[in-house]
Amino acid sequence: WWAHVEPAQKDPILGVTEAYLADPTPHKVNVGVGAFRDDNGNPVVLQCVREAERRIVGKLNMEYLPMGGSHKMIDETLRLAYGENSEFIKDKRIAAIQALSGTGACRVFADFQKRFRPDSQIYIPVPTWANHHNIWRDAHVTQKTFHYYHPESRGLDFAAMIDDIKNAPNGSFFLLHACAHNPTGVDPTEEQWKEISNIFKVKGHFPFFDMAYQGFASGDPERDARAIRIFLEDGHAIGIAQSFAKNMGLYGQRVGCLSLVCEDEKRAVAVKSQLQQLARPMYSNPPVHGALLVSIILSDPHLKNLWLKEVKVMADRIIGMRTALRENLEKLGSSLSWEHITKQIGMFCYSGLTAEQVDRLTNEFHIYMTRNGRISMAGVTTKNVEYLANAIHEVTKS
Ligand code: LMR
Repeated sequence: WWAHVEPAQKDPILGVTEAYLADPTPHKVNVGVGAFRDDNGNPVVLQCVREAERRIVGKLNMEYLPMGGSHKMIDETLRLAYGENSEFIKDKRIAAIQALSGTGACRVFADFQKRFRPDSQIYIPVPTWANHHNIWRDAHVTQKTFHYYHPESRGLDFAAMIDDIKNAPNGSFFLLHACAHNPTGVDPTEEQWKEISNIFKVKGHFPFFDMAYQGFASGDPERDARAIRIFLEDGHAIGIAQSFAKNMGLYGQRVGCLSLVCEDEKRAVAVKSQLQQLARPMYSNPPVHGALLVSIILSDPHLKNLWLKEVKVMADRIIGMRTALRENLEKLGSSLSWEHITKQIGMFCYSGLTAEQVDRLTNEFHIYMTRNGRISMAGVTTKNVEYLANAIHEVTKS
């Protein structure tokens, strides 16, 4: 039956972790996957999560959640993205379901887009998180791209991005990263977001925000929701994919939320019922444990405060490592500019290293990262930063 099946290509991100794990070298470094590590390179479970776990241990039954997931978790999650006093929440205009983290939220949305706007396309930034392409491909939505990153300045290609938004047919779907753009670490400024929102309004485009890093850009989840709030203030009917993988460190729990702003409560009820119907044959209903942790943390003022402090600690460790990596490269006398390491934000540094240079880092120095030159700053520590800088210097000096 399966003789014709060839091995699939390795995933460009998760394949890096597989290769790293298979390497027996003790001084190997993993700056591939975007997963936070402490300064010893170990995974971190937040104290607020440990406390929430303590509160539920032995008290849970294992019943199914509803198809749309935990209502309590969804309510708390929406407040985080749309704001404590959001009119959209009060007016019950948001259709939302618990999702299997950001990937699951994007995928259900992509399927929803295909089902109810079958001829539509999705405009995706260049570059983007590699999995975005897989998600909309498997949902059979045609993909278009728009300019985003400017390689020469290692910043935003704002003019070209605006042109592409203007030139797209009216009423197009756009995928936007709400903050801490993956892989580039380059976000539009507040002024630029306002301009983007204005043009979206004129063109009648639909903005779908992937918000996988709320809290990781500035250390403050409220500030990181600014782009979304600007679009809401301008009256856009937006969609959001939220994830607690990074900002609560709940990676393997697969907990997130998909939400769509609708014209009124009646439509929101209809849309939610359709989202649930898409989820049912895919995975029936979402897992309960992570959702419970999120709702306990966000609904308890003490735990929520603790969480906010812990997000800031994570974001600050990454900012510190940016400075350290840049300083180490400059100390080595690199003739290249490494300013972008500290200018970019969020979990990643889009280093500008070529695929060949990355291959050398891996083969000669046992440093594992994606071939697009993305460095997960979360994997950089005070112990490996000098080694990493040395290796980068070796492969970039002429
Ligand atoms: C990443 O970009 O490294 C993360 O979002 C993990 C993943 O699933 O790719």
